[in-house]
This record gives sequence, structure tokens and C-alpha cells, in this order.
Amino acid sequence: MSSHSTPARRAEELREEIRRHEHLYYVLDSPELTDGEFDALVNELKAIEREHPELVTEDSPTQRVGGTPREGFVKVDHSSQMLSLDNVYNLGELRDWARRAAELAGSAEIEYECEFKLDGLSMALHYEPVEHAPSGNAALPAAGARFARGITRGDGQIGEDVTANLRTIKSIPLTVSAAALKAAKLTAPFEVRGEVLMPTKSFQGMNEQREEQGLARFANPRNAAAGAVRVLEPNVTAQRRLDFYSYFLLQNGAPARDTQWNALETLSAAGFKVNPNRRVVGTIDEVWQFIEETEARRDSLPYEIDGVVIKVNATELWRRLGFTGKAPRWATAYKFAARAATTLVEDILIQVGRTGKLTPVAALRPVPIGGTTVSRATLHNYDEIERLSVRVGDWVLVERGGDVIPKVVRVANDAAHQPVEPRPFHMPTVCPECGGHVVRAEGEVNHYCVNAACPAKLRESLQHFASRRVMNIEGMGEALVDQLLSRGLVKDVAGIYSLKFEDLVELERMGKKSAENVLAEIEASKKLPLERVIFGLGIRMVGERTAEFLAEHFGSMDALMAASEEELIAVNEVGPRIARSIREFFAEEKNLDLIARLQRAGLTFTGIKKERGTQFAGLTFVLTGTLPTYSRDEAKQKIEDAGGKVVGSVSKKTSFVVAGEEAGSKLDKATQLGVKVIDEAELLRMLREGM
Ligand code: IVH
Repeated sequence: MSSHSTPARRAEELREEIRRHEHLYYVLDSPELTDGEFDALVNELKAIEREHPELVTEDSPTQRVGGTPREGFVKVDHSSQMLSLDNVYNLGELRDWARRAAELAGSAEIEYECEFKLDGLSMALHYEPVEHAPSGNAALPAAGARFARGITRGDGQIGEDVTANLRTIKSIPLTVSAAALKAAKLTAPFEVRGEVLMPTKSFQGMNEQREEQGLARFANPRNAAAGAVRVLEPNVTAQRRLDFYSYFLLQNGAPARDTQWNALETLSAAGFKVNPNRRVVGTIDEVWQFIEETEARRDSLPYEIDGVVIKVNATELWRRLGFTGKAPRWATAYKFAARAATTLVEDILIQVGRTGKLTPVAALRPVPIGGTTVSRATLHNYDEIERLSVRVGDWVLVERGGDVIPKVVRVANDAAHQPVEPRPFHMPTVCPECGGHVVRAEGEVNHYCVNAACPAKLRESLQHFASRRVMNIEGMGEALVDQLLSRGLVKDVAGIYSLKFEDLVELERMGKKSAENVLAEIEASKKLPLERVIFGLGIRMVGERTAEFLAEHFGSMDALMAASEEELIAVNEVGPRIARSIREFFAEEKNLDLIARLQRAGLTFTGIKKERGTQFAGLTFVLTGTLPTYSRDEAKQKIEDAGGKVVGSVSKKTSFVVAGEEAGSKLDKATQLGVKVIDEAELLRMLREGM
């Protein structure tokens, strides 16, 4: 804190700074600070607010998660009805819709505004004016607008007040500064409507974690988002990593701008997140082109969309066009075909995972779904099989959604799809891999093989340990792991570190060169940080994120091993069940022995502090497209290890854009701004030889 700055002034400065960086990070996806630098600002503010509780404002960035769990949600009226959309499914229906709209509008030349149809939940956010802070009282927010209330769609007339939960979504501004309002030519009060969604990655991570914890999975990101918005503890919403895209701006319940396009521009200028994938066009042929382009990109988007929304751009026409039932005539939704198909369950197989969990998997008659051929679908557990009432020989509807693995939605037998010699499935009582006992603990949905020496567990643990997200030992895939096991070369994960050149070079499909490579990869894995080692141990219920929190909290393997259940529960996202599972793991003699051998092998057992180089100090990189050898995470890691920073989007401040195959708009932007573009080879050269 500078000497002439009072705590009140410094707190307000920090709040503004933090808001600006939150906007850069969560709305514009182009951070200027590293996570560490950002955390430092937040920590400084928290420290001031702890010392001076009277300085805490309701809209302080530290107050996103606030208040106590509530009993229920209060019902609130919407300012004007929250409509839904009619759907069209082909070009003909789209033309029909456009013709009717043109007739009613009394104009042949209508502009259409096309947007993604985000697969989430619509919400209404109300912003209210705040007055100027009386001078000297910096505890009050400066003039501008503040997020006063957030309401679910409900039945369109009445929704539920979920303000406390929505406040935890970082892309929803808690305040809009006077300057931002001015820039956007906007005055409070106003209302923003848009979609809350869960990015696919968060969804997958959450489901993985739930699976590890023996909880039921969410069927799709939309349901997961709905659940998160309606939980009674904002704390839980905050952990779900939701996002919010704005698509309507209202004042007094009516459109606030002459065109939809201008409304979105206004929202963006005021600091709201608006999906950049939008276009104004003058003909239905051009709308169709947008639809085709969008559908082609569907699989590569970081969130789920289920179609394209087409809106008449001139809001003046909206009133004239009116609505039928609950849907406006001035907008329609082109819905993509569901990525689902009906096929036959030819068998139900059991997979044994590294924790010993038995997962039933449907072996399907191969069927193309949205560009890929699907022949397996997970059934998760026996409860799910009972819920679906699915048998071997049944026809089922299989869907590819936000999940990595396709899933069986329901049984789909009908006149044209008669079951083929159906037979009910029963969980095996012994492990199909080792003959060990299979148990299902009380209150758990999962069945487990209890044999600690089950080869399937060992195989899966080794594969897990060597995988990219854990110890990243390239070349140690299924084929190599199977050979190592069948020749008795490794008996547990620590055995990997005793492998010798002579052991490897003997194996099938393994020349001198690849043996050397694998050994180099094994050696390199020793440098990976503590959280990877913790994740690699395969402790039940300890996924990637939990491992990170544990490493951060305890700072060493020894401290983690010594931690009591109470101490473990103090860690972010660790509850009593996970704490118990960790204690049980470290109580096992065999595991302690394994850990001791990993330590002797030289794996990272302390600190999460990374040794950072300096050759890229002060440089900012943007990655785009697919690099020939490194994944994005690996390239990022390398740059950061060399002291550089990786950000999400290109600006004049960017030092280098690293471009790979199918680099997109970031490459164009770099060319526009004259930012130097390099390829992976050049990046590696710079890392090796300096600039
Ligand atoms: S406009 C007329 N724009 O789709 C009011 N809705 O099927 C309709 N949705 O309830 C809202 N993306 O939850 C609009 N870009 C978008 C949208 C969108 C997704 C959802 C929204 C709505 C539902 C209607």
C-alpha cells in the first residue's frame, strides 16, 4: 500500500482492478495477469477487508459467495413474459417462417440476426442504479449499476429468485461502472436476459468427480447447470463453474435498442459476455449458410449448442409481429438433429477399473451417430441398468452428448425393432478378470472387486499412472503395460522406475530407439509436480482437482500422509468420505511401501513451487490450432516453465502467436496487428537456444 493511500481508498482501487481482470478473464477470455498475480490482488483485498470489516461492500469481488444456505426460493414476477421459441427442422420450414414474418411486417426486406442456440437455461438479470458515493465514504460503490436480482425463467410469467447463486458466476458482472454505462450509452435500471450454461469440460470433470465419489452422474451439461442454479447453498453453485451469455437487453420490459445487433453490442460494451458467433444477414440463403457453418463446428465448441436462433433484427418489428402462444413470431430456432440413434445391445460386458470398480458397458451393433461410428456405450452401474430396464437383445436409443462416452438413453423396442432373444443381465458375483469377490457396499451404487492384487486393477492403475494427465509417460500405453505385466517386469507403479534398457528392448514392437525414448519419458516424469504424484497414486475419490487442492494445502507428501481426517476435511472440496478414503489409503502397509519406493526413485514429493526459467520472462504467448506434437497444455507448461505467460487472445501486447493446424481467427488477428507468428518447431528452438 502506498503511504498516502488509506485502507478505504486502496480497497476501492483493488476492487476496480480485480473487476477489470475478472472481465478480461471471464468475459473476454484474454487475461493480462497470471493466476498467481490475480490471486495476489484478491488476497490483498481480503486482508484489508478482514482488518476493516466496515469497508466490505456488497458488490466487492470477495463477496460473490455470501450469505447462508436458504430454505427455498422466492417466486417473482417477470417484467414481461419470458418467451420460448418455436422450432424449425429444415430449410423449407425456415422459409415458411420467414415468409410469414415478412408478410406480417409488411416488408419484403427483413434483416435477420443469427445466434447460437446455447443449451442451457434462460435467466433474467435485473440491474439497478447506484448513486454517487458521498465523498470520503469509499465503502459505498461508485455511481453505476449493480446486479440486484436474478430470476429463473420458471413458467415464463413467474420465476424464482436465484440471485445468490448467480452472483457466483464470474461472467455475470456484480456492478457496471458509470464509465462502462456511459461507453455503452446505457442507463440503469435495465434487464439482461441470457443463458446460463456449463462448459463441457467442467461438466466432464464434475461427472468424473461424482463417479469417483460414488454419486449419480448428471445426464447432460444442461441438467447439471439446472441443478447448480437451484441448489440452496451458493457455495455449491460456485464450484460448478458455470458461464453466462447475454442475448437480450430490456428496459421497462421492452427491447432497449432499435436492433438486436445493437442491443448485443451495447451489452458487450457494458461488460457483459455476448457470444461472438453471431451475424446479421439479409436473406434466408445466408441464414442457411450460417446454420451449416455452425453445425460443422458443433463438435469443436467448448459448450453444447442444440441449434441456431434466428431473430428479426429490427426490434421495432417485434411488436408488430407479436407472438402465438408462448413463442414470438419474430424469432425461431433451427434445431439440429439429435446426435442419437437406435441400435441393438449385442452384449453387456464388465470393465474393471483401477479402483476395482465394475462398470457394465453395452456392446452395440455399430451405428453411425453424428459423424462417428459408435459400438460401445456405458451403462455406468447396475442401478442404471435397472432404471433403464435394459437387457441383452434389446434395442436402445444411444446418444452422444457432452459426455466423453456415448450413453444409453432408453430401451427403444417397437414393431420394427423386436428384441432379439432378450436375456436379463446380472452383475457377476466374482470378478471377470481375477475371480476375486465382488461386493457392493451399503449405500453405494458401485460394485467393486475386493482382490487387491486383481490384475485388471493393476493394469488400469499403471495406465492411469502413465497417462498424459498424470505422469505423462509417452509410449507407455495399453500395449506396453500389458507386456510389462505379462512378463512380470512391473508389479506396481513404482516398478516403472526400476525398468532397464535391457528389459524394454526385448519387448515386441520396441526397438532401441523407442526403449530409449520410454526411459527418457520415465526420467522426465520425476520432475512433474506433487499433485500429479498424488493423483497417480489412485486413491479412491481423489481426482485431478482434489489432488491439486491437497498438494496446495499440504505442500508435501509427508504432510499429507500425516494429516488427520479433520485436517483433510479442512481442504477445499474434501468431505468426510474423501477424507476417510485418503486415511484408509495411507493406513495400508503396502501403499506406504509403494510410496517409499516412489520417493527413492526421485519423484517430486515436496512443494508445488515450480522452478521457472527466465528465457521467456516478460513475454506473452497465444496458442492457436493443433500443434504437431505437443498438446495445448504441454506447450503452455513449457512456456510457463521458461518464465513466459500464455493468454487466451491476441492483442498488441502479445509477443508471439504459436500457430498449428487449422489455426483460426487468432491467426488473422495476429496478422492484422502485426504480431509475430511462429510454429511449434520455432517455439522449441527458442526454448532450447533462447531467443
Ligand atoms: S431468445 C424469444 N436466444 O432457447 C425468447 N434463446 O427454445 C427466446 N436459448 O428459453 C429466447 N440460446 O433458454 C434466445 N441465442 C439465444 C438462445 C436462446 C438458447 C434458449 C432459451 C430459450 C430457449 C427457447
